[in-house]
Amino acid sequence: MLFRSRTHFDIRHTTAAMMASQGKVLILDSDAARASDLCSRLRFLNYEPVIPPADVSSDALARERGIAVVIGDMQSDDSLGRTLNELKAQQPSLPCLCLPFRGERRGQPDGGTNWTLDLPLKKSQLTRLLRRAARYQGSERRHRLTGNSTSIRRVRELIEQVADFDTNVLVTGQSGTGKELVARTIHDLSDRSGQPFVPINCGAIPADLLESELFGHTRGAFTGAISDRTGRFELAEGGTLFLDEIGDMSLDMQVKLLRVLQERSFERIGSNKTQQCDVRIIAATHRDLPAAVAAGEFREDLYYRLNVFPIEMPPLYKRVSDLPQLLQELLIQHVGDNAGSLRVSPQALRILANYSWPGNIRELSNLVERLAIIKPQGIIEVDDLPAKYCDASIADPGETNQVSEAMQLSHANLKDHLAALEQDLIRQAFEAADGVVAQAAKLLNMRRTTLVEKIRKYHIH
Ligand SMILES: Nc1ncnc2c1ncn2[C@@H]1O[C@H](COP(=O)(O)OP(=O)(O)OP(=O)(O)O)[C@@H](O)[C@H]1O
Ligand SMILES: [Mg+2]
Repeated sequence: MLFRSRTHFDIRHTTAAMMASQGKVLILDSDAARASDLCSRLRFLNYEPVIPPADVSSDALARERGIAVVIGDMQSDDSLGRTLNELKAQQPSLPCLCLPFRGERRGQPDGGTNWTLDLPLKKSQLTRLLRRAARYQGSERRHRLTGNSTSIRRVRELIEQVADFDTNVLVTGQSGTGKELVARTIHDLSDRSGQPFVPINCGAIPADLLESELFGHTRGAFTGAISDRTGRFELAEGGTLFLDEIGDMSLDMQVKLLRVLQERSFERIGSNKTQQCDVRIIAATHRDLPAAVAAGEFREDLYYRLNVFPIEMPPLYKRVSDLPQLLQELLIQHVGDNAGSLRVSPQALRILANYSWPGNIRELSNLVERLAIIKPQGIIEVDDLPAKYCDASIADPGETNQVSEAMQLSHANLKDHLAALEQDLIRQAFEAADGVVAQAAKLLNMRRTTLVEKIRKYHIH
């Protein structure tokens, strides 16, 4: 409020940079009283609020260093609303806490980096969302669940919903679909993110060693136990234990695990001291657990205990529309940020979209790593792909599968075509509107927020 009369650009921090501040929060709200209220609350929560003048440009804001979160009304028609939309178009990963449009949550934008605040403001919600936004920024680069297909968006939604609760989660899906990535993302978005994330592959550890791995043992508990050992439950205290390949656990161990999940306590092998544990459980498997239950290989009671919140990872061949984005992301992972110089020709992409991907994203990742070595520059053509990708019949002998693949491909082609058309129209509208988002949205006859989402989706600058 104090700085609205300033005409020249000078972002003034409403408080001197505080010691151990939790980060800068940019407030773009034309409601001066509310902005000032937000300011006090943020200062109280040890954040550093920043209120720019009303005529600030998004470019100037983009240059401001260290902004962790922005709070504003994305649907507002005033200049600050426009600036916010432009800023989000320039920096899609900047977390935004959205103020309800004219007090209503209806039609609020959301999609990974936007969260809606309720009015009147509540300290608990503001604190929770600020923490979540900060965690999002930290985790975003490390492990991103890349993709924009309906199925992967749904997975992201489920992750968001469950992260804040201590509910057990069961992640299912074929090998290499990203089950562990989902588990890590849930942990990172949860209040436990400051505590350990401890993975254990229940299928890879021999049954007689798994008990000691999970619960630890005391010296002399069994032959070879030459010293005390801390188990994974203890290591994960306060955090998350990721039980990978839970479907491969022996029935014996299943009973022991069930007891811990029910009683939240356990003993190290060889000790009679019961220890309480506060650990969130996320389990994963590529197996069909209901079938394993029916076959008597998996305990029904344990299945229900774990399956409180199921998340199913789609196989890659069912989300081929994500291929271009995944290729780009994996290239960056393998080659670094100058990956932009390596591209895949439309023909090669079509071949990849027509492949059955039994190893899913892990297989794609291996392929990208190999391509980045054999062709560090230029465009990947069909001839650069290993033969098995070009001869889909080797990878996918089943007739049914071939039919579904063909359908998948034509679907992908139509989708790609429409997406290219849409991008073209958006670019033309931007040119006609001199880059002003609100005006471009008018020309395209769509809501500004929808346009901003599309700009983000297509990475249009
Ligand atoms: N959506 C995604 N975007 C980017 N990388 C991904 C995505 N999903 C998975 N990956 C990458 O693919 C690889 C396999 O993922 P992950 O280990 O999570 O799969 P998984 O389902 O646990 O596989 P498995 O069943 O074989 O253990 C990892 O390197 C991961 O980083
Ligand atoms: Mg795994």
